[in-house]
Amino acid sequence: MNLPTNKGADASDAGNERVALRVVGKGANAGARRTGADRAANGNGVSVVAMAGTLKHHMNVQHNLCSALETLADKLPADVRNDDCLALARSVYPIVHRSHVFEEQTLFPFLKARCAGVPELGETLDRLHGEHWEDEAFAEEVHHELVAFAADRSEVNVEKLSYMLRGFFVGLRRHLAFEREHVLPMVEALEDGR
Ligand SMILES: [Fe+2]
Repeated sequence: MNLPTNKGADASDAGNERVALRVVGKGANAGARRTGADRAANGNGVSVVAMAGTLKHHMNVQHNLCSALETLADKLPADVRNDDCLALARSVYPIVHRSHVFEEQTLFPFLKARCAGVPELGETLDRLHGEHWEDEAFAEEVHHELVAFAADRSEVNVEKLSYMLRGFFVGLRRHLAFEREHVLPMVEALEDGR
């Protein structure tokens, strides 16, 4: 099973890994992350290319996560290896959380500063914010169920687990499709230095 990683989805995103690290920052580098968020909030000093690249990177990582979860759901129960199941369980929450940190702390302030004239931007970002909360809560449930399955599969209702996995990745794919269709073009329509 190919597990989703934070390495990006394909060759076109290979260069964006460095961009992602630069824009998102690392946990231990909170000061630098704060500076990036402040610059995004002002709409200044954050490259449009880097912003779009980081957004695409996070979307691709989440798409890979959805594919891995779908593959696992299709293999339930006999063809699922415990180590694959545990590795995937551990990756679910961190992947969606990292994406949400970028969107909430860097992308959304940037959009509010640079795209203030876009109709219903505030409502759209509020809705996406709400979906982030729901997805993170759901990701925690998925994590716990997958760990429980790996620990003792006789104790887990496989049909319920399959239904839960499908509910999670279908909802996440819908969220990503909206962002790819509406949010990414908003960023890409901007120009640096304006
Ligand atoms: Fe999002």
